[in-house]
Amino acid sequence: MKPTPKRFHVRSFGCQMNVYDGERMAELMAADGMVAAADADDADLVVLNTCHIRERATEKVYSDIGRLRKAARVAGRDAPMIAVAGCVAQAEGAEIVARAKVDVVVGPQAYHNLPRLVADAAAGAAALDTDMPALSKFGSLPARRKVGPSAFLTVQEGCDKFCTYCVVPYTRGAEVSRPFAAIVDEARALVDAGAREITLLGQNVNAWDDGEQGLHDLIRALDRIPGLSRIRYTTSHPNDMTQELIDAHAEVESLMPFLHLPVQAGSDRVLKAMNRSHTRDSYLRLIDRIRAARPDIALSGDFIVGFPGETEAEFAETLGLVDAIGYAQAYSFKYSPRPGTPAAGMDGQVAGEVMDDRLQRLQAALNRDQLAFNRASVGRTCAVLVERRGKLAGQMLGKSPWLQSVHLLTDAAIGDAVEVALTDAGPNSLTGVERVRVAA
Ligand code: 5AD
Ligand code: SF4
Repeated sequence: MKPTPKRFHVRSFGCQMNVYDGERMAELMAADGMVAAADADDADLVVLNTCHIRERATEKVYSDIGRLRKAARVAGRDAPMIAVAGCVAQAEGAEIVARAKVDVVVGPQAYHNLPRLVADAAAGAAALDTDMPALSKFGSLPARRKVGPSAFLTVQEGCDKFCTYCVVPYTRGAEVSRPFAAIVDEARALVDAGAREITLLGQNVNAWDDGEQGLHDLIRALDRIPGLSRIRYTTSHPNDMTQELIDAHAEVESLMPFLHLPVQAGSDRVLKAMNRSHTRDSYLRLIDRIRAARPDIALSGDFIVGFPGETEAEFAETLGLVDAIGYAQAYSFKYSPRPGTPAAGMDGQVAGEVMDDRLQRLQAALNRDQLAFNRASVGRTCAVLVERRGKLAGQMLGKSPWLQSVHLLTDAAIGDAVEVALTDAGPNSLTGVERVRVAA
């Protein structure tokens, strides 16, 4: 028997869907009578909402558990109850209990059961749930509470694409779309709770469909919600980028001009070995169509360097693709073999130093383009949605339509939209001067 926890803290790692899941878990525990602690060291239940996408993300869980326990020991407190949630929980299940003696393990499709699992653990029973039930967890979650001006909303989960390097199809399961009406209801609730911008989330968000309607229909329906001024969505797969969705970028005013469309690599041989089912050329042509619809769109992407067998010449094709596109922003990673994925067993695993060198060169190119994109924004006037206070007195921080962080001096409140002239640009943010307050 352990004391039943009263103060919880959720720490989310990895992707935005984990941030969303972490918020929903916090809402669930608050509805169950627990109080949120601002710091993990003040909590008697710590939920580690984990990421399994790369090896380093996974190892972080174990070092975090050790750190939390040590901090309690040093302070003379009882160690907190630890619940491991998220994709590591799904992938490693009972192994985590064996390796780190944690109290609760709960997968991404089962976290609506968290309060019961915590009670079981307090009663001394095994508390592990990594089921992927046919019935969605969403029906069992409490209503949304107060949220910030920019909120996440999961509309789709899972992936059927089976890229050969990726654990997602195994940890998040097959592609499942939430029903249209449930999403619209949650969006309305988010707006009532203070959201002005909603980012629709899914591992393959543009694969969202309910049998009759596609993501473009959902976006057009959300566009009609009064008070919702900005819609975004992430992450998209090139093969699910329909013409209707591209058209929405030209026609729907609240759909922001930003698109995260991972390409991963620039060589057709590597793309094929990755099972990406698009080519360099089909991706480039797709980008042309998107830019024709929305010329100012900011493009973002994901890249993997050092996929098994990648030669220097093939890597150079990735650099060439980056040069051809000019991303506004992008993420790049060294290939990390994930247990159980086809690529982990492929010949030609690339040496660490070679990957380090390629990653450095790729990031230099991506940073160059990001700075160029930010500099090209200087002189523009745009709406900035104020999201939080800055470090300086009177300074606020918000986002441009192109998802750039913008600092400005203003007495506008969080959640206001301000018309801003962009005056200065750095690699990671811009500075602007307030022109007009726009009713949010
Ligand atoms: N190694 C390195 N990067 C990976 N990603 C996914 N799996 C791996 C892996 N095994 C990257 C991809 C994906 C992003 C979320 O993480 O670029 O788009
Ligand atoms: Fe992973 Fe590929 Fe699915 Fe993206 S599309 S989640 S990289 S398998």
